[in-house]
Amino acid sequence: MLKGRDLLSIHELSVDEVHEIIDFAAELKAMQKAGVPHRFLEGKTLGMIFEKSSTRTRVSFEVGIYQLGGMGLFLSNRDLQLGRGEPIKDTARVLSRYLDGIMIRTFGQERIEELAKYADIPVINGLSDLLHPCQVLTDLLTIREHKGKNFRALKMAYVGDGNNMTNSYLYGAAKVGMTLSVATPVEYKMSAEVFENAQTDAQESGAELTWTENPAEAVKDADIVVTDTWASMGQESEHDARKKIFAPYQVNNELLKNASKSAIVMHCLPAYRGEEITDEVFENNAHVIFDEAENRLHTQKAIMALTMAN
Ligand code: CP
Ligand code: NVA
Repeated sequence: MLKGRDLLSIHELSVDEVHEIIDFAAELKAMQKAGVPHRFLEGKTLGMIFEKSSTRTRVSFEVGIYQLGGMGLFLSNRDLQLGRGEPIKDTARVLSRYLDGIMIRTFGQERIEELAKYADIPVINGLSDLLHPCQVLTDLLTIREHKGKNFRALKMAYVGDGNNMTNSYLYGAAKVGMTLSVATPVEYKMSAEVFENAQTDAQESGAELTWTENPAEAVKDADIVVTDTWASMGQESEHDARKKIFAPYQVNNELLKNASKSAIVMHCLPAYRGEEITDEVFENNAHVIFDEAENRLHTQKAIMALTMAN
């Protein structure tokens, strides 16, 4: 039961709950496409705290809550007293008196955990430096649409920086039993703690989770190849240095020769063509990548409806 719960990390969800979110997202998508009303959150409000930029997360949450019959409030830390130093634990208790749910995008995962600890309404992680659960749940829906429901038969390869996306892919793959091979430079691996937790989940699901320094090895026979920016939000000053370090990790046609012939390439966006992905590979996979972007809407509607409905 997700009702009343927070969604801070895929690791905290049961296997059934992960499937429940994806299944419900697919149902909501079908309902929306068929013009069937689905106002599960009539009169409810979601506060959306942004301490970092966003296009997809902001728009899909705001449109999503509206389509569910509720309303979203965009709360930038530039305007909130939070940005002037009001403690997050006070903000949490105040907002809990007005709202029915909070989505937060910020830097440290501990800020989200602190918010959730003091809020008595559901808190949804809209990205932290450590995790991006809404995006990876979305990606699982997108994989299901393009590659079928049998995650256990699929291999994903993640190539690039060991970041919030990598960490959440590890948690997601571990839950659904999908093979995931991660390739990053040694100095830019995923979180060691996340890898250990994911391995524990993987024992139950049978997922095979591996790391290598070698992108070609990770991509070998992969059904899905994913990458993400080499410099995440907050790392802008490292961009030039990272461009040199990550150059061998570009997802290009040469690297894709190692993948399955029918492999799809995914990207959570925003993408930096000529860096982590070539323009050609991006455009060849644009149909998948923009389904992935669209699916943020359906997946987050599922998350909001399951956690926030009466
Ligand atoms: N993928 C994603 O979270 O995009 P935004 O940063 O635009 O929200
Ligand atoms: N790793 C990226 C994801 C953006 C959606 C970042 O944190 O900036």
